[in-house]
Amino acid sequence: MGDLLQGKRILVTGVITDSSIAFDVARLAQEEGAEVVLTGFGRLSLVNRIAARLPKPAPVIELDVTDQEQLDSLAERVREYVPALDGVVHSVAFAPKEALGGNFLNAGWSDVATAVQVSAYSLKSLAMAALPLMERGGSIVGMTFDARYSWPSYDWMGVAKAALESTSRYLARDLGPHGVRCNLVAAGPIKTKAATSIPGYGGFEEVWAQRASIGWDPTDPEPAARGVVGLLSDWFPRTTGEVLHVDGGVHATGC
Ligand SMILES: NC(=O)c1ccc[n+]([C@@H]2O[C@H](COP(=O)([O-])OP(=O)(O)OC[C@H]3O[C@@H](n4cnc5c(N)ncnc54)[C@H](O)[C@@H]3O)[C@@H](O)[C@H]2O)c1
Repeated sequence: MGDLLQGKRILVTGVITDSSIAFDVARLAQEEGAEVVLTGFGRLSLVNRIAARLPKPAPVIELDVTDQEQLDSLAERVREYVPALDGVVHSVAFAPKEALGGNFLNAGWSDVATAVQVSAYSLKSLAMAALPLMERGGSIVGMTFDARYSWPSYDWMGVAKAALESTSRYLARDLGPHGVRCNLVAAGPIKTKAATSIPGYGGFEEVWAQRASIGWDPTDPEPAARGVVGLLSDWFPRTTGEVLHVDGGVHATGC
């Protein structure tokens, strides 16, 4: 227990199981003194059950990041629990199976468009939906998987992550005047629902077993979650448009 986020109100998207990176972010944020509001996509009774496993109960608000009506009413629905936000966590991604798993050359636009809308454009949608609650400034943090490289199987999700990284830089540019920072954490592979639905996910674990200079445990989301909490805190006051690698050092090594 610390006080890194003491007094801060944080909106956390992306909890679906207790292995979700967002679950560990919400847990650590509460342990560091934050008041957390969760959003859930679709399966709200499941998300509510998972939310009950947090150190403190957290309300769950429905949010499909592609649903404009839900985005438009988000600020009002968050205000039922907290009057303003100091931080927003984007921990959302999805690509149809046709756009993953070695099918790069054959994937059609509608599947690619879904991947880009849910996984990249949504950072802008979420930021704009939350902005009315961030009049005193704040910190937005999203999750990427190093998009400077092509990876086996990752395919159009890799392209969506490149779009997410660029979106984050443009948000940093346009939200800076509002006092809002926007950064990403580039995590190594973590065994979550989204990750294990990528055909060939095991290949990532092998790469990290060989190349993570300081070691990497794919069953432990806490290092990535700590990176998110750090970026939500006041300890990175002039850092924006950044990608912070929490990947055991793989980004810095050759093969
Ligand atoms: N697990 C990894 O290896 C890894 C590595 C680097 C980055 N990431 C990123 O971390 C983030 C969280 O993923 P995770 O690994 O914790 O998996 P996860 O399956 O636990 O979380 C993905 C979340 O996205 C949500 N989602 C999907 N479509 C949505 C929509 N239309 N609206 C709102 N929410 C929607 C799901 O409900 C789920 O909560 C993703 O951006 C993912 O790409 C994961």
